[in-house]
Amino acid sequence: MTALARTPVLDEDDSNLVLDPQDVFSAFDWVEARGLRPELTMLDPWYNKGVGGVVDEAEYDRFIAELLERACRVSPHVYLWGFPEILGPYVRCIPGSHRLVAWLTWYYKNNPSVIRGWRSAQMTCLHLAEPDAPMYPQHFINAAQKQRLEDGTLRYMPGPPSVIESPLIIGFIGKKEQTGHPAQKPVAVYDKLIRMVTVESDTIFDPMCGSGTTGAVAKIRGRRAIMNDVNPEYAAIAQRRLGEDYTGWAERLDAELNNRETGAPKARRTSQDLPPDDISVG
Ligand SMILES: C[S@@+](CC[C@H](N)C(=O)[O-])C[C@H]1O[C@@H](n2cnc3c(N)ncnc32)[C@H](O)[C@@H]1O
Repeated sequence: MTALARTPVLDEDDSNLVLDPQDVFSAFDWVEARGLRPELTMLDPWYNKGVGGVVDEAEYDRFIAELLERACRVSPHVYLWGFPEILGPYVRCIPGSHRLVAWLTWYYKNNPSVIRGWRSAQMTCLHLAEPDAPMYPQHFINAAQKQRLEDGTLRYMPGPPSVIESPLIIGFIGKKEQTGHPAQKPVAVYDKLIRMVTVESDTIFDPMCGSGTTGAVAKIRGRRAIMNDVNPEYAAIAQRRLGEDYTGWAERLDAELNNRETGAPKARRTSQDLPPDDISVG
């Protein structure tokens, strides 16, 4: 892709930038006009379900169809966030250049109940990709598995589960991350999504970035982020997050990942055995 050096960069190491606040489609124009091809486009629009407003279903359908069309034009990998009941129908309108790789679920147990009945505990993220787009499940294997990979004795590559469990950052949870944005995603969730489809120095385009979780992960993991939000207040938060000190975050995320993803009881965490439910993979 075209070097980002010619673009206005806003963080101190010249890797990440927040565009002047503009509509999502003019942010796509900005990227395309420069011939950029970010490895990943992250789409986390408002959900047509309350916060952010509710528009006529047909209008939202048209908006999502255009978002998908634009994102698939610029990136081999696209993630689209939403609630399952909203996103379900869009599985049928994925542009022909991409296929549905996975229906991912972010599962959180700590949503405070405000209504009687089922308490919402999940969000959906559709992963779309071009057929040859590279993926990196090896980013999620533990030290023993890495050793076996190097020795050529790893029998299959166990990818991370398609259900990502991580609490909502709310109340006392995730205090260090909280920005006040009403739909902020946890770094731990974006970390997995981003590392599954990118390597160091790859670029992620997030044209509706909200608080800039994408930028935070880019700083932690050595990726590049191009972000935009139509709301100047949120764009400023995203820009501020780029300047934060993320020392120790990668190590903490890795430790958390190893403990969770092995699915193994504590005593077995250092075991070389793969957990039984990984056996069906590959
Ligand atoms: C669900 S939030 C994104 C949250 C983000 N992923 C995070 O972790 O903080 C959606 C964002 O889209 C922005 N947005 C809504 N309509 C937009 C538009 N037409 N163009 C650009 N951004 C828009 C909103 O201001 C909001 O911050």
